[in-house]
Amino acid sequence: MSSNAELKLDGKTYSLPTLIGTEGERAVDISQLRAQSGHITLDEGYGNTGACKSKITFIDGDLGILRYRGIPIEELAEKSTFVEVAHLLIMGKLPNSAELKRFSDLLTQNELLHEDLKHNFEGFPRHAHPMAILSSMINAVSCFYPELLDTSMHKNHFEIEAARLISQVRTIAAFAYRKSHGLPINYPKPALKYTANFLHMMFSKPYEEYPLDPEVVRALDLIFLLHADHEQNCSTSTVRMVASSKANMFASCAAGVCALWGPLHGGANQAVLEMLGEIHASGDDGCKFINAAKDKNSGKKLMGFGHRVYKNYDPRAKIIKKACDEVLAKLKINDPLLDIAKKLEEAALKESYFIERKLYPNVDFYSGIIMRALGIPLEMFTVIFAIGRMPGWIANYREVMEEPAGRISRPRQVYVGPVNQQYVPIKERK
Ligand code: SDX
Repeated sequence: MSSNAELKLDGKTYSLPTLIGTEGERAVDISQLRAQSGHITLDEGYGNTGACKSKITFIDGDLGILRYRGIPIEELAEKSTFVEVAHLLIMGKLPNSAELKRFSDLLTQNELLHEDLKHNFEGFPRHAHPMAILSSMINAVSCFYPELLDTSMHKNHFEIEAARLISQVRTIAAFAYRKSHGLPINYPKPALKYTANFLHMMFSKPYEEYPLDPEVVRALDLIFLLHADHEQNCSTSTVRMVASSKANMFASCAAGVCALWGPLHGGANQAVLEMLGEIHASGDDGCKFINAAKDKNSGKKLMGFGHRVYKNYDPRAKIIKKACDEVLAKLKINDPLLDIAKKLEEAALKESYFIERKLYPNVDFYSGIIMRALGIPLEMFTVIFAIGRMPGWIANYREVMEEPAGRISRPRQVYVGPVNQQYVPIKERK
């Protein structure tokens, strides 16, 4: 514990405890502020407010640092896999060989959807956005396994619930894609590992297995890994909020899918490609668009740029940008949108508007280029983000459910609406 903070209000001084996190972050604990002073704090967008203490992920936005359970993202990106990182985030440690086999077997044993769920896909129109399908189908899955709605957090039970959700979110996504294109669904193959199985379910044809190019599998696995967790972002905070009411894991993570969908959050990867495509089609070399992005009245933003926490280059963007060059070269793809993205980045980072506001590329700026090169359709980009983020949501869900105090999240507000109003009968209303 560090020294107390003193707050002077209406001639009184209040002493508030402070704390320092294991990475040196400092906080004032205001949990008794209202009881002591009758005041609450206001922090719209929660830019200065810690919602919880967590042991899962650490970000230093000024230095561009990201660590999962203390391990730098650069090391994990180079040496680990998505399934291993999922175990690290959810169980709190890198798995030994026996633990990895058990976790991997649980994913395989839980990869099939209940056969009756297939009919649910028929209920969606062809043009339904796969994020809408994903959030509703995650809740629908839980209807078939009522035993998983038990939120007691018994170890075995929790591991099966987590494995089922991580495994089936991939199956739901692939089925949704196949259905929306009028294609027969591909069942998962127990012999295939997580990411390869997803590519098989997405792209195999009845007469031809999808050729599992190791480069493609590795590139998509890296995308999942880099999206696996990111502290208290909008969707993870949503999962924690829903979990705090003691709702089940499926309901909490389905809510996370909805929060992630927004273009300011996970929907940005789709918006970046739409932006790059618009620039390419207009023949603009990027300068016109950058000027529009600087103009508040244009309604344009440089999508994939800026971040609430990173005021430096997002370390994930650096890794993905490097992977873009490698993957496109190996696949012998020459994508003009990558050239536009690089020119856009170079131009923006010389502009005082972006420099002053510390706006750098974030995880979404280059990720779509790789997904496009892997043949992932645009409307599935945010779904890929959701598949990757699922272990982080589950790890945060677990942290909330295992919180000793277990209090429901219920923020306060400052009311600024009308006061002293009376009921007016309809004949007297204007
Ligand atoms: C993700 O939180 C996470 O960790 C999220 C994430 C994760 O892994 O979970 O990292 C994933 O969501 C990444 C972000 C993806 N979104 C985008 O790329 C959309 C474009 N970016 C912006 O909308 C914005 O930068 C946000 C939403 C990411 C952050 O918004 P903030 O922190 O609320 O910042 P702000 O909107 O208050 O911007 C501060 C200033 C403003 O200008 P001024 O009012 O000071 O004049 O910067 C400007 C903004 O207009 N600005 C931009 C801009 N981003 C911020 N101007 C042009 N283009 C942009 N992209």
